[in-house]
Amino acid sequence: MASRPLSASLSVVDVYADRWALVTGASSGIGAEFARLLAGRGMHLVLAARREAPMKELAAELFTRHGTRTEIVSADLVQPPEIARLAEEIDRKGIEIELLVNNAGFGVVADVPNTSRESVLDMISVNIAALTDLTYRFLPPMIERKHGGIINVASVAAFQPVAYMGAYAASKAYVLHFSEALWAETRDHGVTVIALCPGVTNTSFFDVAGAPGWLKKTTASEPEQVVRSALRALEKKRNYVVPGWKNYILSLLVRLAPRRTCALESRKYFRPRPQKKDKQRIEAG
Ligand SMILES: NC(=O)c1ccc[n+]([C@@H]2O[C@H](COP(=O)([O-])OP(=O)(O)OC[C@H]3O[C@@H](n4cnc5c(N)ncnc54)[C@H](OP(=O)(O)O)[C@@H]3O)[C@@H](O)[C@H]2O)c1
Repeated sequence: MASRPLSASLSVVDVYADRWALVTGASSGIGAEFARLLAGRGMHLVLAARREAPMKELAAELFTRHGTRTEIVSADLVQPPEIARLAEEIDRKGIEIELLVNNAGFGVVADVPNTSRESVLDMISVNIAALTDLTYRFLPPMIERKHGGIINVASVAAFQPVAYMGAYAASKAYVLHFSEALWAETRDHGVTVIALCPGVTNTSFFDVAGAPGWLKKTTASEPEQVVRSALRALEKKRNYVVPGWKNYILSLLVRLAPRRTCALESRKYFRPRPQKKDKQRIEAG
């Protein structure tokens, strides 16, 4: 299933059709939308996440619409052996990955005493370790072939500390810095590595993170806008992209404002509301 040969002067950003993309976290949200838009550009897909059923549904949809060939790998990316199995399956099928979309990830929102330490460690495994592992597995062959691309999904939270989701924001700062370093290192080798830094997007992210209903309190982008913006930026071989002009301006402002101010201001986003019994205790003095 190796891709047809590509001239060394071309890269993934020039030609998508009949090549393979690996999209992690493809069972919902931004990842599923990546699958849709890449299939629309003629790519074949390896979809990876834990939930198999939504990926099967998506694969059927994409086959009907575009005749897309899809391989589904159900894998828990917290577990390093599962990441190895995903890579081995791809290798065994003779698939050459032209575009890797490291999208799988989740957040944990809570004040420190109510934060599950295990969840935070799992989050670091998916957001940082799995993304890094897959990058070091699939980037060297791209460099050798002199074509290919990687989209690493970071966040606007990558630009500043965020109270009550400190580890999540820090994990995305890692993704941004890691990706930009690789962008610089590999751009002369026909490869583009880009960090995608979405603002609030209409997916199940905040429900999973432990802030259900939060999305309703704010304006959110649709996954399609985010993915279109990512693919445009990849085509321009940018080092990072912040979809949406308001999000972009915010990402610039936090660089100008004092760090202390940014950290303190961030408390307003996810500060937990006092529970009823806490309120009664406060009122009673
Ligand atoms: N939505 C936002 O506002 C927003 C903003 C900035 C950045 N992001 C980033 O965008 C990316 C996609 O999130 P989303 O907004 O699309 O949320 P989502 O709809 O909840 O999607 C998260 C995806 O990650 C997968 N995933 C989570 N844990 C996994 C694990 N242990 N192993 C394998 N796959 C796992 C999920 O699949 P399974 O549950 O099936 O495993 C799901 O497909 C994340 O990296 C997130 O940090 C989101």
